[in-house]
Amino acid sequence: MSDNFTLLGPSASEAAGRSDILYLALVGFSTLIAGIFLGVIIWFCFRYRRNSPADRSNAPSHGGGLEAAWTIAPLLVFLGLFAWAAKYYAEMYRPPADATPVFVVGRQWMWKIEHGNGRREINELHVPIDTPVKLVMASQDVIHSFFVPAFRQKQDVVPGRYSILWFKANKEGVYHLLCAEYCGTDHASMIGRVMVMQPQDYARWLEEGTSQPGMAQRGFTLFREHGCAGCHSTGSTVHAPLLAGLLGRSVHLEDGSILVADETYVHDSIVEPQKQMVAGYAPIMPSFKGQLSEEDIMAIIEYIRASGDPHTEKQQP
Ligand code: CUA
Repeated sequence: MSDNFTLLGPSASEAAGRSDILYLALVGFSTLIAGIFLGVIIWFCFRYRRNSPADRSNAPSHGGGLEAAWTIAPLLVFLGLFAWAAKYYAEMYRPPADATPVFVVGRQWMWKIEHGNGRREINELHVPIDTPVKLVMASQDVIHSFFVPAFRQKQDVVPGRYSILWFKANKEGVYHLLCAEYCGTDHASMIGRVMVMQPQDYARWLEEGTSQPGMAQRGFTLFREHGCAGCHSTGSTVHAPLLAGLLGRSVHLEDGSILVADETYVHDSIVEPQKQMVAGYAPIMPSFKGQLSEEDIMAIIEYIRASGDPHTEKQQP
């Protein structure tokens, strides 16, 4: 048994520890309350069995205090558990702003992973320890589910939209990566490994794979090749939003709502530009659905991220 083995299996992320305590508390309270009720039922069965000498006259009324107590006490316990779980869920739902993005594309039947500097891997994910990592995931075909039991993290990966999952690994080691959604003949072999490494080892590992251009560089090439710069640039005569510094910025939409631009927003704006129109712009952008692969779109997002602050717009990251 390794030192990271807990009652619920290997645990290698901050969330795993929190999730386990919550899970055990839920099971513990449920067992306790069910046990009390079971005990009382069994006791009544014996006490009031047929022909027993127990007093069967109508009990005097206690004004309902006892009934109120046994109703309200479990209610408070479970509302408390709900609040605890909701807080955990809300924190897991929102990745920290400084999380390192890693891109994942699921397909029948493998996980394709790309790191910001262009290092790619298949069915393996290398991550640094004690660092928030945000996975931006898309599917190329059917629904898959990215599951790392040691992180207590599972997230469906759905075609046509992004799924975000973030974690902070806290134990070095090698952990299972599974597909947890039946996705066809070889679903069972859609498995891999997650390697949690020291930050300096991770940095060295990243550098070993820098023969290809980085994602931002590839994104810049695509940005030019597909004519994006024709409208989205300072010199353009077409009135289109400038994209430098877009990620993390508030965007005012035509319907009056405001959203914070994230990877999902950029992705949707490329494949379905008319869906969320930016206030003050004409709906002239064509959809690039089918022209760009999920990996291409991810590269363009990295180009936009690398192009940084809108006031110091660079042509090349
Ligand atoms: Cu992919 Cu199951």
